Amino acid sequence: MLNLPNRPRRNRQSLALRNLIEENKLHVHDFIAPLFVHAKQVSENIEAMPGCSRLSISDLVKECGELVQLGIQGVILFPAIAEELKTSCAAECYNQDGLIPQAIEAIKAKYPQLLIVTDIALDPYNSDGHDGIVNTDKNGNITILNDATVTTLCQQALCHAKAGADIVAPSDMMDGRIGEIRAALDSQDYQDIAIMAYSAKYASAYYGPFRGALESAPKAGDKKTYQMNPANTSEAFRELALDQAENADILMVKPAGSYLDIIYQYRKQSNLPIAAYQVSGEYLMIEAGAAAGWLDKDKLIEESLLSIKRAGAHIIVSYYAKYWAQNLQK
Ligand code: PBG
Repeated sequence: MLNLPNRPRRNRQSLALRNLIEENKLHVHDFIAPLFVHAKQVSENIEAMPGCSRLSISDLVKECGELVQLGIQGVILFPAIAEELKTSCAAECYNQDGLIPQAIEAIKAKYPQLLIVTDIALDPYNSDGHDGIVNTDKNGNITILNDATVTTLCQQALCHAKAGADIVAPSDMMDGRIGEIRAALDSQDYQDIAIMAYSAKYASAYYGPFRGALESAPKAGDKKTYQMNPANTSEAFRELALDQAENADILMVKPAGSYLDIIYQYRKQSNLPIAAYQVSGEYLMIEAGAAAGWLDKDKLIEESLLSIKRAGAHIIVSYYAKYWAQNLQK
């Protein structure tokens, strides 16, 4: 024997010991499940995201029932809007009889305790496919109009609040929108509606499949004038400070897996709860690796989610929320 009194492996030698010293555990309450909804009567598989569906409102309500059964407490809704309802001013986003208000009302009628988060951004409703209102000059160059967009986002947030949403989640990355949305909600007595701000939202290739799911990809240009450069950290703190000053209730980092350093630092820097979104591309990388027989799906899911939690996220938005909760019951 060597003289090695310091042996960390002593604590790992049995399952019971390993369990005893486990520092982070996923819990079903950590999750928010993203759900896609469309106005059609029948649900459809999403080609760009195998394993996910665009749900009819009645199937959406059923799905929510299954999530509630499993102990999941929150959903975030994304609408696939019919092409003919999309316009350059995206006015459908605040139609009180529109898809999202109907979906919220249908869910709340059956599962009032289920937290409903809604995405605040124009891309599903915008014929230009951008999160903001697009101005095109005579040479075809586009700019995203910040202030006009913020005004529309406020109308959208109010519309969702009226329909019964619990939390609005602005994912658009326009300047000043958190403060304006807060003021708009407060002015109509919706001071209890929380804002989950996508504070550090990076311009990411990992969103590709999601845009396929909603057919919401930008028609021209990219999202780099509003979403952040993956190379940057300081900028994420500038956004954090602003969203906090504008009274966001929860701060979100997105994507999650490639931005664990940002999650970690957000958790240290802020007293607000931190959410992280394991996005469509992260989901599909796991799906593809597993389908090819290269990777163990269940272990990879557990490890990826646990890493997000270990980095510091209180809340995990993941397409695996239901799958994970189902595995727990096996
Ligand atoms: C749109 C929005 C996107 C996602 C959530 N809200 C796409 C984008 O910004 O282009 C991505 C989610 C995912 O990839 O799972 N405002």
